[in-house]
Amino acid sequence: MGKPKDTPLKPARRTEELRAELRRHEHLYYALDAPEVSDQEYDGLMNELKRIEAAHPELLTPDSPTQRVGGKPAEGFRKVRHSRPMLSLDNAYSAEELADWDRRVHELAGNLVVEYMAELKLDGLSIALRYEAGEDGSARLASGVTRGDGQTGEDVTTNVRTIRSVPLSISPDKLKKAGLPQAIEIRGEVVMPEAAFLRMNEEREQEGLPAAVNPRNAAAGTLRTLEPSIVANRRLVFFAYFLLIEGEYWPNGQRATLDVLGSLGFRVNAHRKLVGTVEEMTEFIDDAESKRSTLGYEIDGVVLKVDSHATQQRLGYTGRAPRWAIAYKFTAKSGVTQVNDILITVGRTGKLTPTAMLTPVFVGGVTVSRATLHNADFIDRLGLLLGDWVKVERGGDVIPKVAEVITDDAHPRGNRKFHFPTDCPECGNPVVREEGEVDWRCVNADCPAKLRETLLHFGSRGVMNIEGLGDAVVQQLLEKKLVASVADLYRLKDEDLLALTAQVTQINKKTGVEETRERQLLGPKGTANLQKEIAASKEAGLARVLMGLGIRFVGERTAELLAEEFGDIREVMKADGEQLERVEEVGPRISEAIVDFFTRPSNRALVDSLETLKVKMTAEKKVRSTQLAGLTFVLTGTLPTLTRDEAKKRIEDAGGKTAGSVSKKTSYVVAGEEAGSKLDKAIELKIPVLDEAGLLTLLKDGPAAE
Ligand code: IVH
Repeated sequence: MGKPKDTPLKPARRTEELRAELRRHEHLYYALDAPEVSDQEYDGLMNELKRIEAAHPELLTPDSPTQRVGGKPAEGFRKVRHSRPMLSLDNAYSAEELADWDRRVHELAGNLVVEYMAELKLDGLSIALRYEAGEDGSARLASGVTRGDGQTGEDVTTNVRTIRSVPLSISPDKLKKAGLPQAIEIRGEVVMPEAAFLRMNEEREQEGLPAAVNPRNAAAGTLRTLEPSIVANRRLVFFAYFLLIEGEYWPNGQRATLDVLGSLGFRVNAHRKLVGTVEEMTEFIDDAESKRSTLGYEIDGVVLKVDSHATQQRLGYTGRAPRWAIAYKFTAKSGVTQVNDILITVGRTGKLTPTAMLTPVFVGGVTVSRATLHNADFIDRLGLLLGDWVKVERGGDVIPKVAEVITDDAHPRGNRKFHFPTDCPECGNPVVREEGEVDWRCVNADCPAKLRETLLHFGSRGVMNIEGLGDAVVQQLLEKKLVASVADLYRLKDEDLLALTAQVTQINKKTGVEETRERQLLGPKGTANLQKEIAASKEAGLARVLMGLGIRFVGERTAELLAEEFGDIREVMKADGEQLERVEEVGPRISEAIVDFFTRPSNRALVDSLETLKVKMTAEKKVRSTQLAGLTFVLTGTLPTLTRDEAKKRIEDAGGKTAGSVSKKTSYVVAGEEAGSKLDKAIELKIPVLDEAGLLTLLKDGPAAE
């Protein structure tokens, strides 16, 4: 092998450069969850470094990125050390690379059996679940930890418990059949199904929040959310693929591992197959790629694992990956095109979003003419100039993205720097960026863009559902100063709507000159229809109005739950943080946003107007169970299956109250493992003590008659 052509620098200097680059990308990827380069490019840099280090062993240092597992985990959750490192995988991008790997495996395996388990490479994040011995002989979920830097991850147990495909306990019976002890560890991948991803982004859009870029980021962000109820609503799925006992892989091979995990009640991906040759691997890969769009969740390749445990052990590990497994990565679908302009749009919350306007290019089956640039920082990080050629990727992502600027000789650089606006492009007021935020916002309450977006949102399907209240009408209503708030929609007279105009441009057939004239936008029929739609929307009810008001974080589901709980907008307005947080899915962040919204006089006035205009702002309240009415519970210690929040909610849903400390007024103390002084106090005061099972019986049957 000659000197690689892309390393003209002296090896020592290039090594330093590569190490610095790799460390930076690792930090972006693992700690910030904001990668700048594709895995392929990252692997390219890593391989270059490996090559140089192999040719110049004197340059190898113990802290080189080739010698360790990853970057540093994000702050916020308790750090937990893994029982054995969670490694990553080496990648292959072609059948030739697979053949090379297969050859190496055979060489190293000697006379041992070589068969491979082919699995899908799920595009999520890996986690480790530890199960510990329960008193009843079962295995109980004790912790869920993210991969983190591979050595140490973050304890996200509370969130993991909300994932339905994660069994909270495994029965003694199942353990016995599988010949397993109670203390086991399961590793696998958490993914967000596409449907949940799309729904989440729809909700985020309605809430005026930036959309998540892809399901993997969404899943990672969700697992790090501090509100477990939000996690529960996101419908994450866990696919299991490894089983460990005391930090060692279960010794019966990968195929049997997947089968046994299935028998324990874990979700194991059905697309898997034992293969022997590179041809069979390619067949599996082709099949996976053809099924890719119908799976309902994202995959980014196929993982091949040597099946036999003995062979795996013979092959061993390099610093960062097992030699007995490899990831075949699908190549991202990309195209190269030119950025002609950057368009800034102002959203309902005043956020400025830049979009690259591209020369249309065909990528992965669709024509792409715009790609999101997220925010000002992203443009800076790309170093993007207007006129630059860029690589646009559509990989698994829903929104096309600009992956990089092309800087080779064949593509001349652009020549105009883009200046992110300092003033709102719609109202001209200065834009601001709050400390710690990435987005620039227009904070002018009267910015016409905000009002326009608010009106469009209010009328949209799924909110007040006013058909006919589209871009053109809203634009005209604003231009003619006919509306200054959503309430004004209900004050519109027929003559107002008849006065709306549209411009039509036509070529005069005689003169051949372009002429612009104005015409009525709606006409009598259109006006009558729109008035009917507006009037009908008055009956949409509380949930829709709550959504339509545009309270931050209040999307469809939250609005519905609030409506069921409070039944009347006046009750929602009166509620304090604690009362709001009784609603499932409402945590401190959401409750604060609601309280803040209704504290503002202009918003209160808006509600008054809507009420005067006879917009229905009530809903049927959910009938509450009164099973536990009049009883007060104190929770202490860790319950075997319910989290503290779940238990609290169950009690409150049944009409009971919960309190923080034990007194004579306490009806029951519910005690779990490691219950503390509250339990002693209960015994002292002779207050009945329940375990989780006792609580569940009480919830089902009610308190026994005296
Ligand atoms: S095995 C040491 N199997 O891919 C073994 N990983 O690129 C590493 N992944 O960190 C894990 N699907 O997050 C394995 N069927 C699968 C997988 C899978 C997705 C992810 C996992 C891992 C990454 C490595």
